[in-house]
Amino acid sequence: MAFSHFLSLDDFETAARRRLPRAVFGFVAGGAEAEHSLRDNRAAFARVGFVPRGLRDVSRRSADVALWGRSHPLPVGIAPMGIAGMCRHEADLALAQAAHAAGLPFILSGSSNVPLERIQQLAPGTWYQGYFPGDTARMERILQRLQAARTEVLVVTIDTCVAGNRENNARRGFTVPFALNPSLMLDGLLHPRWLLGVFARTLYRGGVPRWCNLYEEIGCRITEEPAHGFRTGRDLLSWEHIAWLRARWPGRLLLKGVMHPADAAEAVRLQLDGVIVSNHGGRQLDGSLSTLQALPEIVAAVPEGFPVMVDGGFRRGADVLKAVAFGARMVFVGRPLMYAAAVGGQAGVRHAIGLLHGEIDRNLALLGCARLDELTRDRLRAIPGI
Ligand SMILES: Cc1cc2nc3c(=O)[nH]c(=O)nc-3n(C[C@H](O)[C@H](O)[C@H](O)COP(=O)(O)O)c2cc1C
Repeated sequence: MAFSHFLSLDDFETAARRRLPRAVFGFVAGGAEAEHSLRDNRAAFARVGFVPRGLRDVSRRSADVALWGRSHPLPVGIAPMGIAGMCRHEADLALAQAAHAAGLPFILSGSSNVPLERIQQLAPGTWYQGYFPGDTARMERILQRLQAARTEVLVVTIDTCVAGNRENNARRGFTVPFALNPSLMLDGLLHPRWLLGVFARTLYRGGVPRWCNLYEEIGCRITEEPAHGFRTGRDLLSWEHIAWLRARWPGRLLLKGVMHPADAAEAVRLQLDGVIVSNHGGRQLDGSLSTLQALPEIVAAVPEGFPVMVDGGFRRGADVLKAVAFGARMVFVGRPLMYAAAVGGQAGVRHAIGLLHGEIDRNLALLGCARLDELTRDRLRAIPGI
């Protein structure tokens, strides 16, 4: 498949909207309740403007970024996204391999559908995101599995103690665990490329996708409730469990879903390796602040050099550069790369990453910066009243 007519990440969204059944597209695109936070994540970028500088010799540019002693060619990674197998057969693998080829981090969701051992084999260095229950005996068994698979970076999502209220899923008949019903069947029949290329292919190759990486073993099918319950115990998770994890986990340990500066400060106190500022792409607490707005306060709450990362609504290189100017080390992109995987598999994701790379490189030059560390907060102005 040629991607020359995909000129921006939004073009993948347009193509995925046509290709995926409404319920599946809605599951990916949607947010919680009235979708205020989903919209505000995007709207925040228009409330901040660049102040570029000229005549700065930007002929030798690089968007390299160092994280824990490793260099990445861009300050960009792929956010964890569960049940990616609904969008494409083995989408987790397509995302992992595209990120690996580009030298960028990919965070494998705990709710993913390809066993993490296979992902680590084909895309070594993949990070793992856990939806941990507040039960150290069960956590210990998951950690053993992660270590056996040579996982180095563990991300604990802290914004999902209970399920978000995603009315759009309910309206379209989309449930987790997944259950087929007449309206979904009709939806599938109206999208034959998905029906044959994803649904039939997946059933033929390996049967109904499974919760492969939620717990210590390959779990049940996504049409079934896991033995311990899907979210049982997540509402018990507390800072004590994070302290326990810190003592137990020898690799890098991050929190995802940090929105309050005091939580970022606590992560520093517990000697974690970084935080990801996130409101789960507007899919959990509707009305939570946009992540671009939350970012500066969190950067201010941690010591200089402590990695603060962010996700939520990033669609352009310019968006990424605004977060970098506010002090973000890495920006994670979610939905657009899921759409790229749905439309074009690994090649689609690589093309999407290439688009972001081009935008970041060009805009860095236009800002008058040869390197990311020249891009500081004085290049941004708030635009009041918008
Ligand atoms: C379909 C989908 C599934 C997601 N699943 C997870 C998940 O399993 N774990 C997690 O921490 N975040 C999950 N998220 C949230 C993303 O990691 C990320 O925070 C968000 O999508 C970033 O916003 P963006 O999609 O606007 O780039 C999911 C998001 C989407 C769209």
